[in-house]
Formats: sequence, structure tokens, C-alpha cells
Amino acid sequence: MALPARVRIVEVGPRDGLQNEPAQVPTAAKIELIDRLSATGLQTIEATSFVSPKWVPQLADAAEVFAGIDRRPGIAYPVLVPNLRGYERARAAGASEVAVFTAASEAFNRRNTNAGIDESLQRFVPVLERARDDGVRVRGYVSTVLGCPYQGAVPLGDVVRVAKALHAMGCYEVSLGDTIGVGTPGSARAMLRTVAAEVPMAALAVHFHDTWGQALANILACLEEGVAVVDSAVAGTGGCPYAKGASGNVASEDVVYMLHGMGIETGIDLPQLADTGRWLAGLLGRETGSKAGRALAAAG
Ligand code: HMG
Ligand code: MG
Repeated sequence: MALPARVRIVEVGPRDGLQNEPAQVPTAAKIELIDRLSATGLQTIEATSFVSPKWVPQLADAAEVFAGIDRRPGIAYPVLVPNLRGYERARAAGASEVAVFTAASEAFNRRNTNAGIDESLQRFVPVLERARDDGVRVRGYVSTVLGCPYQGAVPLGDVVRVAKALHAMGCYEVSLGDTIGVGTPGSARAMLRTVAAEVPMAALAVHFHDTWGQALANILACLEEGVAVVDSAVAGTGGCPYAKGASGNVASEDVVYMLHGMGIETGIDLPQLADTGRWLAGLLGRETGSKAGRALAAAG
């Protein structure tokens, strides 16, 4: 299988990155982060999350963040919504793209959303109906596609069933999430190939956390299978507060460095992205989680 000529990066740092930070990041800094990311050439930036502020207090200021950012033409700014309530809040704040999320593992989905998988899919039905009427695009996430922190192994059939259901209900893209970063290239490839037999590859994205250091290798295996959309987070921030032991997302800078090195276009200015990553890491009081970001800084 030929590698894609171009890959779209879905930058999830402002959402997946910041939802798991122990410290409260000031609203103005979140806005600055998104505005900086908007200047790097990224086409999709997941801006925030309209979940229950009791469940994820880090993103309780979602409406203020969304209202404060400078939304540039040509860039999509999806936001996470768990239910119709979240959708309505997102719309009131001006969002024109949303993302719904469920999991392939029943146990994880209960911890994350207090609902079983089928119950969460039912919650999305009115969200997708409203979105269709409003002309709002909806992305779908399937978590725990390569393993679950509570259940352990996740049968591939469960991943396929949930991905198919999200696509059938109208999600234009389904992102397959290795929430706890336990996959390896063999399992990642097999998972994607199995899902892609039922959902068109053009409607699939991959979302790797780097807990075991496998994310770039997994992405490469999935690119070889034909996927052309990759989720990542600047500075490698991130994790799910309801997935114990999950570490950061794969760093966007590292993904972009790999893709550009392989002659695959992203439209992203890597030095500018890396600057943003180091700025964010400074804000969080630590070194960037991106090796490419550190190497670029060392090279001057
Ligand atoms: P619940 O407690 O079962 O829901 O939570 P509820 O309907 O009983 O509501 C409880 C309270 O929350 C009520 O308020 C509701 O009004 C309020 P009260 O009456 O107690 O004052 N509420 C809301 N408030 C604001 N916005 C809303 C909203 N909904 C209800 N949208 C719920 C159910 C789904 C809401 C909750 O479990 C939740 O918000 N979970 C989100 C957890 C989360 O955000 N996890 C991280 C994102 S997923 C992820 O990171 C994985 C991903 O990156 C992919 C991967 O890596 O695999 C996407
Ligand atoms: Mg994630």
C-alpha cells in the first residue's frame, strides 16, 4: 500500500492535552495556545470540551475559550460534546463542528461517561439529528481500541461495531483511539485493517497515546494501511482523567517531523509548531514532551 501524499493532523492539545493537567491553565493562556496553533498551518484544532465541569474541571471555561479565540477561515475548530446538553452549550458558544465520544470497552465507557456503550450511542442520536439540521459536522471517537485499563483486552469485533455505528449515524470521520497507548505496530495495523473493511478508510483517523513509546511506530503502520488523518497534541501533552496510567498523546511536532522526512505533506510549519510546544511546556512548568521540539531548540 502506497503511503498517502498528504496527511491532515488533528491537533488535540487544547482539549486532550489540557483536560488532564493537574494545574488549572488560565483561560487567556488557552486562547493564546489556540491562536498560536492557528498560525502554524494546522487545518483542524480541537479547541475544548463541553463536558460536565464536575467531571473535567480543567475545561470548565470552554465557552470563554471558544468565544476568545481568533477563528481563522479554512481552519476547523471542533469541540468535544458528551450529550445534547454539551451540544447546546457548544452551539451557544459558536461552535460549528463537534466531536462525540464513546469506547469499544464497556468498562471504560462507564468510568468515562457514566453510561454503557449502547446508552452513549443513544445519547448521540439527538446530537446528530440537531447537527444535521444545523449544518454542523460531527466527528466520532472510539476509545480503548487496543486495550482497556479496566477490562484488559478489547475484542476487535467490538471496535468494528462501535466505529460502524458512529459512521452510520452520520459522523464524517471516526477517530480510533489507543487511549492508554498499549498498542504495537502489529496490533495497530490489524485493528485498522479490520475496521477499514467495514468503514471507508477515508472516514478513519488514528489517535495514539504514547505510554509505551509506540505511537510513531503505530502511526507509520497505519499510514502504510492507508490512513491519512492523525490526531496528536503539541508538546505531547494529554491523557484521559478516567484512564488510569494513560500518558500523553503522541507529540504533533514528532509526527510532523516524521511525515515531512518521508516526503508526506502536512502544510504545517514545523519550527513554528515546535516554538508553540516549548511555549506551552514553559507555561506548564516543564520541558516539552516532543523530542523533535527539543532537538530543534538544541539546533538553534
Ligand atoms: P452524569 O453525571 O452521568 O450526567 O455525567 P447527568 O446527566 O446525570 O448530569 C450530571 C450533572 O452534570 C448535571 O448537573 C448536569 O446538568 C450536568 P447538576 O444537576 O448535578 O448540577 N451536565 C453537564 N454540564 C455541562 N455540560 C454538559 C453536561 N452534561 C451533564 N455537557 C457525562 C455524564 C457524560 C456528562 C459525564 O460523564 C462527562 O461529562 N464525562 C466526560 C468525561 C471526559 O470528558 N473524558 C475525557 C474525554 S474522552 C477522551 O479523552 C478520549 C479521547 O481522547 C480518545 C482516546 O484517547 O481514546 C477522545
Ligand atoms: Mg485521547
